[in-house]
Amino acid sequence: MSPVLDAREAPALPGHFLLGHLPRRQRDPLGMYLEAAETLGGFARFHLLGKALYLVSEPEGIQRVLADNAANYAKGFGYAAMKSVMGEGLVTAEGAAWREQRRRCVPAFHGRRLEQLLAPMRQVIDAGVASWGQHGEAVDLFAASLTLSRHVAARALLSLDGPLDALDDAIPLLQREVSRRSLALFTVPLPFRTPRERAFDRALATLDAFVYAQLRSRRGSESRQNDLLQDLLDAYGPDEEVPLRDALVTLFLAAYETTATSLTWILWLLAQHPESAERVYAETVGTPGGGPYTRQVIEEGMRLYPAVWLFARRAINADVVAGYQVPAGSFLLISPWVNHHLTRFWDKPGEFRPERFDAAQRPAIPKLAYLPFSSGPRQCIGAAFAIMELTAMVGAVVQRYRMELSDPRAPGFEPLITLQPARRIHLKLRAR
Ligand code: HEM
Repeated sequence: MSPVLDAREAPALPGHFLLGHLPRRQRDPLGMYLEAAETLGGFARFHLLGKALYLVSEPEGIQRVLADNAANYAKGFGYAAMKSVMGEGLVTAEGAAWREQRRRCVPAFHGRRLEQLLAPMRQVIDAGVASWGQHGEAVDLFAASLTLSRHVAARALLSLDGPLDALDDAIPLLQREVSRRSLALFTVPLPFRTPRERAFDRALATLDAFVYAQLRSRRGSESRQNDLLQDLLDAYGPDEEVPLRDALVTLFLAAYETTATSLTWILWLLAQHPESAERVYAETVGTPGGGPYTRQVIEEGMRLYPAVWLFARRAINADVVAGYQVPAGSFLLISPWVNHHLTRFWDKPGEFRPERFDAAQRPAIPKLAYLPFSSGPRQCIGAAFAIMELTAMVGAVVQRYRMELSDPRAPGFEPLITLQPARRIHLKLRAR
């Protein structure tokens, strides 16, 4: 018998007789996936609208899907919506097209190159963080983080400083709509464009006009800039304007909301743990690059609240994953949120304990229990960039302010493509 036929059928949580796991998935996806992984083990089955999905939390299974047999796994659902904005960029491309793009983008993310970007990014961060405290009122933390992150991405990618005018409206609108469309389980085709779709089309046209104008002006310029677009211009020829546009827009969108979400949760944690904030303050005085404790805080923040809380793969051919049968065409889910909270991997997983990541304790973390940036060949290309940026952002905030929450209650979650707070977090800032 083939190994696929021998393999076991995965266990499932009890579900609605008709709707399967859909009602719970709509109400409480984080709780549902975590409960399944805690109680059923490393491979669990779900039924949504007649489709079987499998959540893999077992490290051996994740290793097979993301690394050892990665060629058998295409990106999962939700990518059509992303493609409508990102085109065929690194996040959405598959196979040979993806390999080619990754090869071209990698040089832009080398350590040396990133260090050159840090000084100009820091200027934008300092100015942005200074403006947070100007009105003497509590800041809406997630909104402020999104704006800051968008402006830092604009500086790092395109050498743009300050407000982005029409793009400051277009980009959040596109991002929200992509999230909404990628998470919709089905769509009803209508014979006309809805107002929401027309707003989306207008925002996309604004973005494209802006990006193509940037590309034309940079191609026509003799001088070289210190930004990621310069690396992309070197990697893509003048007859490759669409792939270059897709590469640039992909990097912008992949960088912007993930970083803002992570920053929001890390600052929310530091506001509740002033002793940790003071340690970060002491470590970042005069050394804005941070030190080991700042790094631990960032890693623990991304453990408790991984910005990309779930991602999916589709099996091209049948496979056996961690001893379970995976039919061809089925969808596998991998959830950093789940792996970061499983009691079989973490002691008191709900507690904020940056020391989990210190030199003494880190080696005890099981492989793939921690994967905020995924793993294998398609892991986040911007991981080092994100850590560098978050370190500079967190350092800038604690250097300037003491933080306090207006409302100590947890804001709850809105699990879109990124794990956003459901309610606004108002952060009170007191200048040091
Ligand atoms: C804290 C911030 C970030 C988090 C948590 C994060 C997380 C992730 C994760 C989990 C993936 C894999 C998704 C999947 O396989 O389905 C990914 C891919 C990706 N990320 Fe990030 N990311 C962050 C910041 C960034 C930044 C700053 C950039 C660029 C400057 C970036 C660019 C990308 C790209 C291009 C991919 C696709 C890589 C490929 O498929 O080859 N990300 N990211």
